Amino acid sequence: KTVTYNFNVTYTDANPDGQFSRKVIGINGQWPIPTIDIEKGDRVIVNLVNSLPDAETSLHFHGLFQNGTTYMDGPAGVTQCPVGPGQTITYNFTVNQPGTYWYHSHVKGQYPDGIRAPFIVRDPKGPYAGKYDEEVVISLSDWYHDENPALFSKFLSVGNPTGAEPVPDSALMNDTQGLPFNVLPGKTYMVRVVNMAAFAAQYFWIEGHSMRIIEVDGEYTEEAEAEMIYITAAQRYSFLLTTKNDTSQNYAIVGSMDEDLFDAVPDGLNPNVTGHLIYDSSKPLPDPEFVDEFDPFDDYTLVPFDGEDIWENPTYSFSLEVLMDNLGDGANYAFFNGITYTPPKVPTLYSALNAGNLSLTPEIYGRDTNPHVFKHNDVVELVVNNNDPGKHPFHLHGHTFQLVYRSDDDAGLYNVSDPSVTFSQKPMRRDTVLINPGGNMVLRFRADNPGVWLFHCHIEWHIQSGLVATFIEAPDVIQKTMKIPADHLEVCAGQNLPVTGNAAAN
Ligand code: C2O
Repeated sequence: KTVTYNFNVTYTDANPDGQFSRKVIGINGQWPIPTIDIEKGDRVIVNLVNSLPDAETSLHFHGLFQNGTTYMDGPAGVTQCPVGPGQTITYNFTVNQPGTYWYHSHVKGQYPDGIRAPFIVRDPKGPYAGKYDEEVVISLSDWYHDENPALFSKFLSVGNPTGAEPVPDSALMNDTQGLPFNVLPGKTYMVRVVNMAAFAAQYFWIEGHSMRIIEVDGEYTEEAEAEMIYITAAQRYSFLLTTKNDTSQNYAIVGSMDEDLFDAVPDGLNPNVTGHLIYDSSKPLPDPEFVDEFDPFDDYTLVPFDGEDIWENPTYSFSLEVLMDNLGDGANYAFFNGITYTPPKVPTLYSALNAGNLSLTPEIYGRDTNPHVFKHNDVVELVVNNNDPGKHPFHLHGHTFQLVYRSDDDAGLYNVSDPSVTFSQKPMRRDTVLINPGGNMVLRFRADNPGVWLFHCHIEWHIQSGLVATFIEAPDVIQKTMKIPADHLEVCAGQNLPVTGNAAAN
């Protein structure tokens, strides 16, 4: 079936943490913005009108492969022009992946101002269908009292030479504080958790209950039991939760921001957000117990449900090294291999379509896009070396990748001949993964999805400071098989961007 959403992007006001009312970006005058909730196989149409008087926007559907529709992926400067004030655009695509996703603006720095929500793809025929009684969605996020444009100009300035990221003012659960989750005894719930944060990962647990993980980032896994998970910005977990037969008390559901990410923890910051599993609403809602050491489940140990082996014999291998450093303006930028990403005026996808045989030559995309070109069906091996003392959640558009290896903290550069390096033989797959501080990791994926896909750190501050690379996958196939919709080209034309109709492959 086709599910249509008419989204008018507007400012509105909200006070989700009960401490401060501020201007947020809403949809149809509402905030939180709607959750997209569909079934596997559905076509989604989003008719978007940008009614923000002073800001561009776009929507990205995080985790969806957009197979055959790379032009619907959403990042501005990559697969479309940013949608200017008063402009409209239509996203129209079919979803054949079940699982837990989210959608957000993909204009730099915008989604922390509120334009982000879960995107659920139900799967009535999935491997865990019938093993639970009900589905529930829990979103987590961090929240800032200041608006992003102001935070950003302070962040990327000479006054902040160490690149200290703005610290959130609070944590949210379902865009509020104190989520009540009423349960019946002796039932099994499938709980989908999405972290829509700008920055903070959260430790997440439910007191007195364990979680049986069955999905990460849209990939089913073998059931794995966890007491606590660590969920970075942009990651998702689904788990089965079986309630007790005893209704004599209620339990805290806790999200706790990882304060190690913050350069300095401000006085009075409450890193926690608390909800409750309510068996009996006449009984008290307990405060969470104090936890002095976090020991979360290690996602590296997950096994994909389909049991797929490691993809052997990479045909394209490369590495990206993360570094933070100052540039001539005195501000602190982020770099992959010495390049700090700047989005081009002409979206990279349109350049690929117009480049004829040169589309396979990375140089034509411009150094600042940090381009890497793959041939159709390459097995790609990407080594990431984190030459930075921070943790980074790396995300790849258009794919899930295998995490074949991840070092501990401070392991330095990846060294293939180090005997302690062993690869997972049935690696878990996901679309966003944490790299350890000063560590390294090895990802593999198949270039089986012709398109232009970003690879970036999902800390929104680091997207803005340049920790982004562009992967151009099978541009020759894109040229032969894809046509850019006219309304997408009109968005560019309306801003006098130099994109011509022949961007559409004929
Ligand atoms: Cu959540 Cu580049 O995306």
